[in-house]
Amino acid sequence: MRILITGGAGFIGSNVTDAFLAAGHDVAVVDDLSSGSADNIAPRARVYRVDIRDAALDGIFAEERPEVVCHHAAQVSVRRSVEAPQADAEINVLGSLNVFGAARRHGTRRLVFASTGGAIYGEQTGPPADETHPCRPRSPYAVAKLAVEHYLDYFRATFGLEAVVLRYANVYGPRQDPHGEAGVVAIFMQRILAGLAPTIFGDGEQVRDFVYVEDVVTANLAALRVATPRDETAIFNIGTGRATTVNALWRVIEAVARPTVGAYYEPVRSGDVRRSVLDPSRAARLLGWRPAVGLEEGLARTWAWFVEHAGRKAAEAA
Ligand SMILES: NC(=O)c1ccc[n+]([C@@H]2O[C@H](COP(=O)([O-])OP(=O)(O)OC[C@H]3O[C@@H](n4cnc5c(N)ncnc54)[C@H](O)[C@@H]3O)[C@@H](O)[C@H]2O)c1
Repeated sequence: MRILITGGAGFIGSNVTDAFLAAGHDVAVVDDLSSGSADNIAPRARVYRVDIRDAALDGIFAEERPEVVCHHAAQVSVRRSVEAPQADAEINVLGSLNVFGAARRHGTRRLVFASTGGAIYGEQTGPPADETHPCRPRSPYAVAKLAVEHYLDYFRATFGLEAVVLRYANVYGPRQDPHGEAGVVAIFMQRILAGLAPTIFGDGEQVRDFVYVEDVVTANLAALRVATPRDETAIFNIGTGRATTVNALWRVIEAVARPTVGAYYEPVRSGDVRRSVLDPSRAARLLGWRPAVGLEEGLARTWAWFVEHAGRKAAEAA
């Protein structure tokens, strides 16, 4: 299959790119390297260092004629979206429209969009949210993601493109950037490696759903082939359904990484939701997808990667 992946130099996109290549697909990456790294991209992928908002995207689509577009490029910081909603929308809304428009003009059959369950549903009460949970986006980032889901559905209904939305929970794993805003696991592990105490905001009893990146990768592989309904966009939560408090997460990380310092607590940040857990049963039923890597194992693998990566960086710097 000819696949074009946007954001393929990033944490999730590069892991997905590796899996697409390993499955025998022909892969082109579009990424401006604003938060991703060229080191993440497998040599066998063709790489275009281009902003998704750029008119040059059309020429890339003319050249590549992808059958499937897997859209991961985004401004991913919720905090930055709060500070600069317009800049966020320029990338996350207008950039996405540029991608979808090029896909339509150049015969792409299917669009897969990396959305967010964690941010779109807003504050939750009760059981894990399924895809029918009301959407109450509370940040410009989440508003943009929800808007793009609607634009995608418009492209499906109007131009007949097959549309798949993957609403991720809190993804963690190798290659996550600890310098960004997102990714509590990466931030904690980087701080431990530096001998610094990680910060827990609030009382640490806020609840999240942590899904390992390899499981997100298998969801993307399944999204290439899943039957899509004619009359609606196929939307799937990609999470574990397992509720984990940040305090509990920290305890597992302590067991895995044996830090020399404890975490310390700071006042809760405004805009952080108390509870976010996704019900993945629709993905199990229709996508044939289930998370396979438990939190303890995923954190152990992630820690091993951070240690090895830090060692490699130190050796390069020496
Ligand atoms: N990490 C999570 O927990 C999570 C949760 C829900 C949704 N998502 C979504 O998954 C996708 C990937 O996120 P990630 O965590 O891998 O982040 P990331 O920052 O590692 O990846 C984003 C990639 O997009 C690229 N990019 C950014 N702006 C661009 C632009 N204007 N033009 C071209 N490329 C651009 C970056 O350089 C980077 O390589 C994003 O769409 C994000 O919103 C992530």
